[in-house]
Amino acid sequence: MKHITCIFLRMSNHMPPDHAFTPVVTMIPGDGIGPEVVASAVTLVDAAGGRVSWEYADAGAEVFRRGIPSGVPEETIASIARTRVVLKGPLETPVGYGEKSANVTLRKLFETFANIRPVRELPGVPTPYSGRGIDLVVIRENVEDLYAGIEHMQTPDVAQCLKLISRLGCQRIARTALAFARSEGRTNVAVATKANIMKLTEGMLKSEFALAAADCPELDTWHVIIDNAAHQLVKAPEQFEVIVTTNMNGDILSDLTSALVGGLGFAPSANLGTEVAIFEAVHGSAPKYAGQDVANPCAVVLSAVMMLRHLEQFEAADALEQAVYRTLEDGIHTKDVKAGEPVGTAAFTEAVRARIGQASSIAPRQRQPLALPQISRSDARSEPGSRSKAGVDIFIESTDEPERIASRLQDATAGTPYHLKMVSCRGTVVWPSTGGSTGCIDHFRCRFVIADRHAWHQESVLDLLQRVGRIYRWMHVEKLEDIDGEPAYTKAQGEN
Ligand code: NAI
Repeated sequence: MKHITCIFLRMSNHMPPDHAFTPVVTMIPGDGIGPEVVASAVTLVDAAGGRVSWEYADAGAEVFRRGIPSGVPEETIASIARTRVVLKGPLETPVGYGEKSANVTLRKLFETFANIRPVRELPGVPTPYSGRGIDLVVIRENVEDLYAGIEHMQTPDVAQCLKLISRLGCQRIARTALAFARSEGRTNVAVATKANIMKLTEGMLKSEFALAAADCPELDTWHVIIDNAAHQLVKAPEQFEVIVTTNMNGDILSDLTSALVGGLGFAPSANLGTEVAIFEAVHGSAPKYAGQDVANPCAVVLSAVMMLRHLEQFEAADALEQAVYRTLEDGIHTKDVKAGEPVGTAAFTEAVRARIGQASSIAPRQRQPLALPQISRSDARSEPGSRSKAGVDIFIESTDEPERIASRLQDATAGTPYHLKMVSCRGTVVWPSTGGSTGCIDHFRCRFVIADRHAWHQESVLDLLQRVGRIYRWMHVEKLEDIDGEPAYTKAQGEN
């Protein structure tokens, strides 16, 4: 594999650290409670002395209703491409019909590959964990994994979603987590994966993290299996400082971590790429609270604090963060936080505004600007010494019993260079018999291996497919390859 050279660029390299400079930020109010909480953040950024010129743009429910299937109009894309910094409210995702999530579209359009989700214990926000000093960050890979949303009905009754994980994606997110820890003076970085089961996909993040961590001996880096991470986060969350993980795992874990410190109303986030940064709350549009002046604006306001740091406006960021903490410390809160006398979104905003300039009991953390790793596609490409074809997996639809499938396939493919090694159903061998009692559905993987590797060529695979296709409907084919002499595919459960 090529040595990876990471050139660390300042995220804000397009913005001179000139105090007279006022950056333009695209502001998307969003759906549900979005307009109220984003208005709160805009008011408070301005009040805290943030130098920002806001450029309004829309996305989400109203845009879907106008018939734009992505939920993101061209003008909004153009605004983001120009400003490269976004503060956004939550966007509703249509459920159960064709349209994709406008959030995911925005993250992917601008390749914001790193989703940074910090949580910390807050004064005046009682939880079962109060007093334990929770202060941790989930760093979620943001553009790959199951969220690529590549799905197919393989039969009328079997759905498939592809989990695509790339070496580039793993290197970028692993090195971002390490750079982030350094920028915040944190020393403990865990990578959380399901590599014990998904050895190639989740395993790639585990191994790329280990390689990247070898360059950071000053950090305490470790691996934790994702289910144990969930368990440990509930049992002893104070042991974590930074957790880096794949997209879906990070989505789930970060909702869990927000609950440790008082709920989604307190969970901010930054979606970072090398070109664009999008700041938003972790929470959604909470439609039942829309327009009622009850939503907690802290998550979006703290996202705006992250935005100010990204813009290198550290003084304004600290002033706003301190004012939020001080407001909570003074017992002022919205109704999601605790029993007692809650205030509305507008009154909470006013209370924070009135405290700008006051300190809280939490000292601001010393931070350096975050430098994202710049890794090109060619940097991340491995150069194996050898690659050879080992066979083909052909996925078929059938209601036949496995014995009959095997016998028909063997007859149909006799005389080809391929030999039927096994048939599996949902990843478990069902032929040859294992002696188990695996249930079957109408979806089988038929693994054909080739003894003479020289006999593998395009025509022989097409001939094999034609022969299989004469007796069964096939819907999916995967070539089997050995890379550097090792199988670059996994065995089925029960396969020898
Ligand atoms: P949600 O986060 O909107 O609500 C979950 C629970 O938390 C609800 O009980 C809600 O009332 C409460 N909650 C959330 N934020 C709050 C706040 N600031 N103050 C007080 N209570 C708050 O999640 P849900 O219901 O799953 O999703 C609603 C919609 O939001 C869906 O269309 C979903 O697709 C979208 N969504 C958008 C996101 C984004 O734009 N980044 C993220 C998550 C969901």
